Amino acid sequence: MSRNAEMGLAESIRARVGDAPVRIGLILGSGLGHLAEAVDGVAIDYADLPGFPHAGVSGHNPKLVVGDLEGVRVAVLGGRAHYYEKGDAGVMRAPLEALRDLGAKELILTNAAGSFRPDIPPGELMLIRDHINFSGRNPLIGEPTDARFVNMVDAYDPAMRAALGAAAAAAGVPLLDGVYAWYSGPSFETPAEIRALHLLGSDAVGMSTVPEVILARFLGMRCAAISTITNMAAGMSAEVLSHEHTKAMAPLGAAKLERVLRGYLRALGSAAT
Ligand code: HPA
Repeated sequence: MSRNAEMGLAESIRARVGDAPVRIGLILGSGLGHLAEAVDGVAIDYADLPGFPHAGVSGHNPKLVVGDLEGVRVAVLGGRAHYYEKGDAGVMRAPLEALRDLGAKELILTNAAGSFRPDIPPGELMLIRDHINFSGRNPLIGEPTDARFVNMVDAYDPAMRAALGAAAAAAGVPLLDGVYAWYSGPSFETPAEIRALHLLGSDAVGMSTVPEVILARFLGMRCAAISTITNMAAGMSAEVLSHEHTKAMAPLGAAKLERVLRGYLRALGSAAT
């Protein structure tokens, strides 16, 4: 998409939500989309936003909501498009560029994930400390400028992680951190792949977030991400993995996630005033 078209997207969003700059973007994962309803603001269907991907995965809430949450102006993406939908790792580029153009300097991503760690079981949250791109895909392939050589050290911003940890502690929500592995999906992993991913140093696996973090770092946004653990990874429990199962389990962690995010925003809002 051309630079003009991008600005057109942010402009068309501003025309509907007002000019006040957005402080922080939030991307909601599978089964977590209802959080968008908590925002006091204006909701726009993705279908009405040229360049926004069709977020066709059930359990997502494909709306952009811009408004106030805990005293902070946020832009919430109620759902995302995934690499596995069309084979495009850069599928979230236009929405992320729009967030950046609306003023967001920070991005918090959430997802549903399978855990390798018995101490982070289903229903718990994991703060992502780092990632392994097990898909081998990169959303910046084909990007023509030297800006494509993005530094990924501290891609998950240490200060944001510390603030999320503090918000979790204040809310009484356990929040261990770990490494997230991106597996392309849409099939789940094999037990052998899970053993390999664990040996490589990851703690949880999922089908999103990593390409968005690469894009957001490219666009200059600071990032943090939290996984809602919906299952133990393939081969680690008797559960049969399915998207139905993911959607059924995500709400177990969603209430905790909402408390942590609200606490984070409250602290951000009060620090600003
Ligand atoms: N693997 C990949 N993606 C997931 C999983 C999983 O076990 N659980 C939720 N999303």
